[in-house]
Amino acid sequence: CGIVGYIGYRDAYPIIVKGLQRLEYRGYDSAGIALYDGQDINLSKTKGKVDDLKKKAESSMSLKGTLGIGHTRWATHGVPNDINSHPHYSNSGDLVIIHNGIIENYDSIKKELINRGYTFSSDTDTEVLINLIEEVKKKENVKLGHAVQIALNQVVGAYAIAVIDKQKPDEIVVAKLGSPLAIGIGENEFFIASDASPFIEFTNNAVYLEDEEMAIIRIGKEIKLRKIKDNSIAYPSIQELQLNLEEIEKGGFEHFMLKEIYEQPRAILDTYRGRLLAKEGIIKMAGIDENLEKFLNANRIIIVACGTSWHAGLVAEYIFEDLARIPVEVEYASEFRYRNPVVTENDVLIAISQSGETADTLAAIKLAKEKGAFVFGVCNVVGSSIARETDAGAYTHAGPEIGVASTKAFTTQITVLTLLALKLAKAKGVFNSTRFHEYLTELEQIPAKVEEALLTNPLVEIIANVYKDSPNCLYLGRGYNFPVALEGALKLKEISYIHAEGYPAAEMKHGPIALIDEHMPVVIIATSKGHYEKIVSNIQEIKSRKGKIIAVVTQGDVQVRELADHVIEVPETLENLTPLLTTIPLQLLSYHIAVMRGCNVDQPRNLAKSVTVE
Ligand code: G6P
Repeated sequence: CGIVGYIGYRDAYPIIVKGLQRLEYRGYDSAGIALYDGQDINLSKTKGKVDDLKKKAESSMSLKGTLGIGHTRWATHGVPNDINSHPHYSNSGDLVIIHNGIIENYDSIKKELINRGYTFSSDTDTEVLINLIEEVKKKENVKLGHAVQIALNQVVGAYAIAVIDKQKPDEIVVAKLGSPLAIGIGENEFFIASDASPFIEFTNNAVYLEDEEMAIIRIGKEIKLRKIKDNSIAYPSIQELQLNLEEIEKGGFEHFMLKEIYEQPRAILDTYRGRLLAKEGIIKMAGIDENLEKFLNANRIIIVACGTSWHAGLVAEYIFEDLARIPVEVEYASEFRYRNPVVTENDVLIAISQSGETADTLAAIKLAKEKGAFVFGVCNVVGSSIARETDAGAYTHAGPEIGVASTKAFTTQITVLTLLALKLAKAKGVFNSTRFHEYLTELEQIPAKVEEALLTNPLVEIIANVYKDSPNCLYLGRGYNFPVALEGALKLKEISYIHAEGYPAAEMKHGPIALIDEHMPVVIIATSKGHYEKIVSNIQEIKSRKGKIIAVVTQGDVQVRELADHVIEVPETLENLTPLLTTIPLQLLSYHIAVMRGCNVDQPRNLAKSVTVE
């Protein structure tokens, strides 16, 4: 979910609505807004997108007010409908809350509150929390900030919340545990949001709350930070923001996803800029340089991640083992954290996360740290929870990724992990200078080669048109391109709702081959290096069962061209670097198919960009 708030001298409504639109990547099942008009808190909320909210609010409530909060929701408790949307009133109607996260023990608190005469109109855990705050405020006869602090000590779960009080309309109380919360500091005005994007045109100064911190934000006063646990004072550190407005707008592209696909040459370049010094023959990465021994002495590397980031982890497994000869295990963060894994002080855990907020990945990090492992983060969002929780790390520098289906985050994650593997290969003496140099110079060519791979776009669009109505699609690859096949299938599933499966090409004969007939499109990655002949045999197996073959090949390929129904060429590169190129046409294929099917590419149904629930 995404939360936004404003308190100051401007009209809050347009700021909040625009902010919600920028945060819609965090969830878009429903949206809501509450504004204090000088007398009352007016509220409007609806199932659907922020645009639906705008229509409803503009026709049904007063938009007056310089204090307000808003929410865009990814449903956890309670189906997405108008009533379950946020904000929520307390029973007296004085307090209003927005909440991102989950209150796990809401049920027992709810029963207790019902016993005391409270009533509930929604199924949400959030409505329970706001009434608990109200009950504490009354019973203990304390101010709002103190009531929030006491109430939060009674709940188990994760949250970023903002609460306003009709009786004290000069303040917003916010608190954070597990879900992000930034406060933008202007002159005589404050902004709150799940990330800084809603307020970057107003201020460059922000405070990011740490876990278990809360803040009382009051007009004309400095921000007061407190520790939720004991109400002790905490001191804010004000950070200067680096985001700019252009980065979070579509810049002439029809969708964020397409813009982000096209940004990859630049994003990859930004990721290795200043780190890859080919002429000098070095890779400089502070997070690794300072901790090189940890990596060199590691028994193994454990990689944890979710979704697309997990696929980048799989590519990294091949790269680390092949180049640096270090054993690697890759796990879904959600499985790792709950299966009592064997982790020791001699392990290095690498957590990969675009958002740096994924709850399961964060929990896996905490577990590994408890067991004494050294934890290294690969995140895109600067200052995110995972970036802060890890012992060291390297950012991907892809710039904001807004489309829910991840594209440039994936290729930049692979870039960072390749740099890391190369550094280790060199430091371990597995690579001599000549081989190292060969890699560095080839990496420098990658942005231009990605640019070339993007030139396949018109051809990919034609292919998309042929298969847009297929109910199923199979993706196959071997070696480095097996994870690319998984990622290709995930992209198609996510945004076009076509059932797609990724498989290692050789595994096809153990099951998926049964699915192949003249209606089944098979996307197969068949680049010239890495088991080419084996892949050609797999293609023949598909062809003899009349499957339709869409092959991603190396420029100049002859053999596959004779067998496949369609070939998409990408430039030649070192085998380990092929995923950076073969991924591109697969991203474009899913994009075009989704557009042709009339799907909402940037905000596919049921998904969210940043999953801060378990
Ligand atoms: C969500 C997103 C995916 C993403 C995954 C992991 O499911 O929709 O695109 O790959 O979370 O997110 P992270 O931010 O940790 O990389």
